[in-house]
Amino acid sequence: MLEGKSVIVTGAGSGIGRSTALVLAGYGARLLLADIDHGTCRETADLVVAQGGTATAVKADVSVEDDVESMVEAAVAVYGRLDGAFNNAGVDGAFESVAESTSENWHRVMSVNLEGVWLCLRAELRRMLGSGGSIVNTSSTGGLVGMGIGLSAYVAAKHGVVGLTRAAALEYATQGIRVNAVCPGTVRTGMYEQVVATGVVTEEQIAAMQPINRAAQPEEIAEAVAWLLSDRASFVTGQAWAVDGGLVAQ
Ligand code: NAI
Repeated sequence: MLEGKSVIVTGAGSGIGRSTALVLAGYGARLLLADIDHGTCRETADLVVAQGGTATAVKADVSVEDDVESMVEAAVAVYGRLDGAFNNAGVDGAFESVAESTSENWHRVMSVNLEGVWLCLRAELRRMLGSGGSIVNTSSTGGLVGMGIGLSAYVAAKHGVVGLTRAAALEYATQGIRVNAVCPGTVRTGMYEQVVATGVVTEEQIAAMQPINRAAQPEEIAEAVAWLLSDRASFVTGQAWAVDGGLVAQ
């Protein structure tokens, strides 16, 4: 489905990013994997290579402009072109009411989850102009609904990702570049473990948020991303696709 395509994956060292890297490689994509944690990112690259795929790992903080520019240049240097990108790196937010929320948490979440996606998207679009491509940004069901559990900075950032996705999709629709977002429900990753560890919500409560009554495995998000990145989704742009066990259908 993605044979020979050169694709960037950010946040590739863990969770959804790592699973998506393995799924994309299985469909034939050649990967430029990026993460702020170079050790785990290299582990993902090793896993891809061990399953017969092609991957190069780079260290990049998506909230740092120079890192993002170097990441995109690396993809082009290694593979000669850039066909796709999955802008997925993100951090969870502190659980705090709006009235009690802190500037520190707000800026940390915004700088990675929204500004990081913007920096990546901008650099990737510049590279894809003239040749076309497909970009998928990771939002969340928290990018579509308010959640009401004290994650306002996270929710605001993820709504921002949806807005950015739609704006970019419209601007580049006639230039062969599609831009979409995935909005996962709860997914069993490191971020999931961190939220459970806070004790704010139990695993049973998390499962019950989804009508399917369980959290997702990261591979279930990866399959949606792979399809959006592929030419099979050639008429799909500007979408915020909830892959959420029915959560936002309620
Ligand atoms: P994770 O914590 O397992 O993986 C996140 C990865 O991003 C880590 O490898 C981390 O090192 C990397 N990262 C963090 N900050 C970075 C930065 N500044 N630059 C580069 N890399 C950075 O988390 P998970 O669950 O795989 O999350 C991936 C994305 O999915 C995030 O955007 C998250 O908000 C989103 N998401 C996760 C959900 C969940 O339930 N796990 C639900 C909805 C959305």
